[in-house]
Amino acid sequence: MHVVTGEDIAELISQAADQVEELVRANPEAVIGIATGSTPEPLYAELTRRTGEGLDLSRLRITCLDEYIGLPAEHPQSYRHYIAEQILEPWGIDPAHTVLPEGDAADPDVAAAAFEDGIRSLGGVDLQILGIGPNGHIAFNEPGSPADSRTRVVDLTAETREANSRFFDSIDEVPSQALTQGIGTILESRKAIMLAFGAGKADAVAAMIDGPVDEDVPASALQDHSALEVFLDAAAASRLVSGPPEHRRRLRPAGQEEVDRMRLICQAILFDIDGTLVDSTASVERTWRTWAAEQGIDADAILRTSHGRRSQDVLIEHIPEGQVETAMRRLSELEVSDTDGVIALPGTREILTSLPAGSWAAVTSGERHVMVPRLEIAGLPVPEVLVTSEDVAHGKPDPEGYLAAARQLGVDPAQCLVIEDAPAGIRAGLAAGAHVLGVATSHAIDELTDAHARVPDLTVCRFTPADDGIVVEIGD
Ligand code: F6R
Repeated sequence: MHVVTGEDIAELISQAADQVEELVRANPEAVIGIATGSTPEPLYAELTRRTGEGLDLSRLRITCLDEYIGLPAEHPQSYRHYIAEQILEPWGIDPAHTVLPEGDAADPDVAAAAFEDGIRSLGGVDLQILGIGPNGHIAFNEPGSPADSRTRVVDLTAETREANSRFFDSIDEVPSQALTQGIGTILESRKAIMLAFGAGKADAVAAMIDGPVDEDVPASALQDHSALEVFLDAAAASRLVSGPPEHRRRLRPAGQEEVDRMRLICQAILFDIDGTLVDSTASVERTWRTWAAEQGIDADAILRTSHGRRSQDVLIEHIPEGQVETAMRRLSELEVSDTDGVIALPGTREILTSLPAGSWAAVTSGERHVMVPRLEIAGLPVPEVLVTSEDVAHGKPDPEGYLAAARQLGVDPAQCLVIEDAPAGIRAGLAAGAHVLGVATSHAIDELTDAHARVPDLTVCRFTPADDGIVVEIGD
């Protein structure tokens, strides 16, 4: 996915039109998939304008994304009418060169299958134009649509009918069903261009680009599109974490483990300590085992849930509240006296020493008098902002610690990258509204799926201080 943002919608439209023109000049009979709706109208108008300058669009073959069920082709709000008016007539295309869904067919399921076959018989779509609904829909794939869905009959959500009622005299006239290409069908387009303008699209755009691939946000499946260009105005891009990632796509390298590539600019980096900066697993485990043996408690039961959480939050699940304070003192004693095997994790020393002071912080579930020596023993700098278990009323997965660190650095949490190795910490970072990178040191990469991106360790990341923030790059 490549994301282009700009203040000037006309300039964005012109860039998108350049891409269509480039394709048409290379292949005058290309198959173009039309999105209806208001967003792409200026793109179609710009292409029409270019026909006046000699661009020949008349040999293109045209398909589309969807159609209302129940509207005849000549209905002013049918998508076949839209395409005739905005595309076929101005571009001089013979209607015989179109494959469009028959929304008024006697059997809509048969029409859906015929539409899918029609796209196949064109040889697939060379360039698909896309819009996005405020609820993250693409075509009429509403939330809950599977990423491998094909062309089918769907029910429209109340939200979509409401959004589209602006084209009809009343909401009652908006059909309640549609025929739509499936997400799987759309993902097969060889290239796609999405346009999204205006603040009303900002949440959907952020979820599509920054969020995990999730059926509740159908557009997020486009993270797996092989060649997608997204054009956003400043308002539509306004909820993206730390500005637009220039590209972000998933890949499966030889090891079969999924690693993400990403590039983003953030204002601060908030690190967890244990398992993220420092490997203290052996020391922490010995501490819990010694304490559990002293108490006659099953250490394994504790260790299954203790990682990444404050000791008091773990203890309360195993001993009466009145004993927690004494237990905390004993655990501290053990932790401070046993630091064997505490080392910096790969890449961390180089990263921390290259970051400007004040641009990073650490947020830990441990206590200050344990964590400061732990960083020092590992040979790592102690940050100016260090939020420890004593500083918060609620430990991870509560976002309090990350929010406090961002506040102390004077940075909007949405402009921060949280780096975490444990699911509880990842949830804390997400709840704080930050971008979250999962590092699979203590947990398998599959357990970190909620993070926006995941890496095996921090050596694969580059952090480069720049004028407008810290550029974080993963992959090549
Ligand atoms: C259009 C389509 C829809 C729209 C989306 C945005 O064929 O399938 O997904 O792209 O609803 O519509 P506008 O651009 O009107 O905001």
